[in-house]
Amino acid sequence: MKIIILLGAPGAGKGTAAEGIKAATPYMHVSTGDMLRTAVKAGTPIGREAEGYMKRGELVPDGVMVRLVEEKFDGGPADKAYMLDGFPRTVEQAEMLDASLARRNSRLAHVFYLEAPRDLLVARLAGRRICRACGANYHIVNIPPKKQDVCDTCGGELYQRADDKEATINTRLEVFANQTKALIDYYTRQGVLARIDAAAPRERIIGQIVDKLRMAAGQ
Ligand code: AP5
Repeated sequence: MKIIILLGAPGAGKGTAAEGIKAATPYMHVSTGDMLRTAVKAGTPIGREAEGYMKRGELVPDGVMVRLVEEKFDGGPADKAYMLDGFPRTVEQAEMLDASLARRNSRLAHVFYLEAPRDLLVARLAGRRICRACGANYHIVNIPPKKQDVCDTCGGELYQRADDKEATINTRLEVFANQTKALIDYYTRQGVLARIDAAAPRERIIGQIVDKLRMAAGQ
């Protein structure tokens, strides 16, 4: 199993970059945020447990998250390549991931830290719109749809995520600073962290990451 991680504050552009990386490499996109939103919508036990935390912009407990990710790994073939988006988010989750990879004789290849200033993060989150039908991601200023509130790809209706309202955005950014930022040191110490300027255009971000992955694979 091969693993890379996209690390970054809410709104840094992890999901947007993941879509481009997925198209150009064998890495399968695993977004814990998307998995949780699906579970909430379906009303599963994990969804019911996670819903309140997500609405408030807080982290879902580590035990729940590790269960979710382990189930994903168990369900796929042993030689699969995964790109984790939104996991881990605490040092405890990172330690549990290390232990899980060691059990599977696998190792973390790269962690890409998408770095961006706070005002840019807030503007990106507040302007984000998502297609209700296919999940495509837009921004009302940076990456606007051709027709307002309509998805270019499938014609579906665009909506704003409930946690992209101002008060919740502030909580999410605080949670990142207090609970997730420690992972930058954690992965720097492991020698796997690469810093990426997340304020750059999405094509440049995707190109930098894809080039690095191809170089590491000797391509
Ligand atoms: P999650 O869904 O993971 O949200 P997040 O980390 O807050 O990240 P976002 O999806 O908001 O941002 P992103 O970096 O993917 O940005 P995007 O590409 O969309 O998690 C939601 C919740 O689930 C959490 O709050 C928590 O409760 C729970 N959760 C999830 N994982 C958990 C875990 N491991 N442990 C505990 N709880 C967990 O881009 C944003 C906008 O900017 C878009 O509009 C996009 O079009 C635009 N944009 C992106 N890149 C660019 C660019 N380069 N140039 C111009 N515009 C851009």
